[in-house]
Amino acid sequence: MERNQHNDAKFPFRSVLVTGGAGFIGARVVARLRQRNVHTVVIDNGYVGLPLPAPENGLVPFKIDIRNRTALTSILSGYKPEAIIHLAAVHHIPTCEREPYLAFDVNVLGTQSLLDAAANAGVKNLVFASSGAVYKWESGPLHEVRTLTAATDVYSNTKLTNEYQLACWAARKGARTHIARSDRTVGRVDRARAAVGIAGGGGWVVIGRSAASGGGVRRPRRNRGARSRSAGSGAR
Ligand SMILES: NC(=O)c1ccc[n+]([C@@H]2O[C@H](COP(=O)([O-])OP(=O)(O)OC[C@H]3O[C@@H](n4cnc5c(N)ncnc54)[C@H](O)[C@@H]3O)[C@@H](O)[C@H]2O)c1
Repeated sequence: MERNQHNDAKFPFRSVLVTGGAGFIGARVVARLRQRNVHTVVIDNGYVGLPLPAPENGLVPFKIDIRNRTALTSILSGYKPEAIIHLAAVHHIPTCEREPYLAFDVNVLGTQSLLDAAANAGVKNLVFASSGAVYKWESGPLHEVRTLTAATDVYSNTKLTNEYQLACWAARKGARTHIARSDRTVGRVDRARAAVGIAGGGGWVVIGRSAASGGGVRRPRRNRGARSRSAGSGAR
């Protein structure tokens, strides 16, 4: 089997909307969806500076901001995707600390605008990229139920708020949400990222382990990024 190739048989959706689809994770998610022949709508405002994927049959990119409620409502009610993968966020931690109003505006109000547009379009499935940053820091293994959460900085504050927003939305709208609390993401840094001067551009970045929530995953040491660069250098 080719590296990174997965069994497609169980993928449940024929159409998906991806926010932040130009980003480090988003570009790969979009590519995987297209490999599975899933009709994909991409929303990204280009904040990070990476290009949106080119339009093609089954792939429709929109360069818009998730805070643009009118545009979001119109796109979601036009395409009515079966699911949304919500990745768009300001997640560079020093930027969040420096610009808390921007971080709350994009991450919290932008998410609310997406949830409202999704409800309006009758979308009932949403996957959200939260972060391992929402866990209360402990030296032992993390567990998604037993480990307490704590907002310790602007970024984790927005992600934890997002988790409550999603829980509320799902309960009220009878929708399903899946929250991924991943930690630092590891992968090849694409040339486009290097070209726009994003730290980590130009080669492999190895940050230690990906620590998705669930099943008692041991968290990488906090300072591990000091000896190897993260994709976003300061991203969680
Ligand atoms: N990279 C990591 O290590 C990591 C770890 C844990 C969680 N996450 C989360 O995963 C998600 C994706 O991370 P990534 O590494 O791909 O980040 P990224 O910065 O590469 O991608 C985020 C994308 O969102 C877009 N965006 C930002 N603000 C927007 C707005 N207002 N409207 C529309 N688009 C907007 C950016 O242009 C960018 O393309 C984020 O929500 C992040 O918090 C990332």
